[in-house]
Amino acid sequence: MEFQASAASRNIQPSATLKLNALVQEMRAKGHDIIGLTAGEPDFNTPEHIVDAGKKAIDDGYTRYTPVSGIPQLKKAIVDTLLKDKNLLYENKNILVSMGAKQALYQALRVILNPGDEVLLPAPCWLSYQEMITMCSAVPVPIHTTAEQGYVPDIESFYEKYTDKTKLILINSPNNPTGAVWGKKILTEIAEFAKDKDLLILSDEIYEKMVYGDAHHVSIASISDDAKERSIIVNGFSKAYAMTGWRLGYSSGNEKIIAAMDAFQSHAAGCPNSIAQHAAVEALNGTQKPLYDMVQVFDRRRKLMVDLIKDIPNVSCFEPEGAFYVLLDISPCIGLKCHDTPISSDMDFAHLLLAHNRVSAVPGNSFYAPNCLRLSYAVKDENIVEAMKRLKEFVLSLE
Ligand SMILES: Cc1ncc(COP(=O)(O)O)c(C=O)c1O
Repeated sequence: MEFQASAASRNIQPSATLKLNALVQEMRAKGHDIIGLTAGEPDFNTPEHIVDAGKKAIDDGYTRYTPVSGIPQLKKAIVDTLLKDKNLLYENKNILVSMGAKQALYQALRVILNPGDEVLLPAPCWLSYQEMITMCSAVPVPIHTTAEQGYVPDIESFYEKYTDKTKLILINSPNNPTGAVWGKKILTEIAEFAKDKDLLILSDEIYEKMVYGDAHHVSIASISDDAKERSIIVNGFSKAYAMTGWRLGYSSGNEKIIAAMDAFQSHAAGCPNSIAQHAAVEALNGTQKPLYDMVQVFDRRRKLMVDLIKDIPNVSCFEPEGAFYVLLDISPCIGLKCHDTPISSDMDFAHLLLAHNRVSAVPGNSFYAPNCLRLSYAVKDENIVEAMKRLKEFVLSLE
């Protein structure tokens, strides 16, 4: 049989890190001690009181289908949280619970985009956005930003990239992979631009609780009533509550868009996991201390990693203000050789660093961050110290 993949799925890029991960596994199997800096999830367990609520849900028999859009008590907990944290007034009908922020984002894109529509996508950005947009037969239009700009775009570039096909702006602050946290000024400008051009805004705020120092998370929906009306905010439990495996996220926004996403979800997936939903009520309504403790640990590791990077020649980084990643600029190393093997891309650098100095990191290219590596500091302090030592040795060995 000859299989011809559908047009929508034909162009999906296989994950750039798959080959790298295969090499990590092969090396580990041979007994090499690899330090992995690729983690996209907290290295913490789900807090005990949340786990207990999940166990209780099983004991209480909450093991059946729930309403597709989520159980009312979780939607209420989300509504209360949005009001308390962001002063955003929603009702249960504005909320849709999904199987992770990833599914929420994909569904939002599916109900908004028609083939050929363009999405303004500030970059660097999370690698799934461009693939999801392409899966909708729509077109990602990156708006490139630099470390010198603090990875905050200027509003002129939105006007420059705008065409009559532009339908949506997709933003993510705190950002994966840069760690940038956008302030009120740029968010206000984007909200005004969206109003001016009558565009929708999809705002991925999954790292909102992970902000450090003076950084402060602002939701674009809180900028104005108009911004709130044209924004879908996506959030989830994976990062803040260390619940990646529970698969739970949510969207809040305009009632009609949420209803369309609900209808889509009802056929594409059904209801989110019942047990996870009961645990998530506890995550939002219960103590937030484990979250604050985890954020403090990440803040310490962030400073540690950035300080150690300062001591390595030929690489540099923007000091992240949120999430748990450092985007390392390796441009000065491009063109150098590692034991006679030329380094012509971030992928080459990542492979050689792994092969020779046993540190794995994600090449930046798939995040629209060429000549960069994404380093995760969701690892123990001693691993950060050892990994930065090995990175330094690797860079010093290049000729
Ligand atoms: C920016 C961003 N959005 C969304 C997600 C997906 O989160 P979830 O586990 O809720 O699907 C991730 C996970 O890495 C992410 O980095």
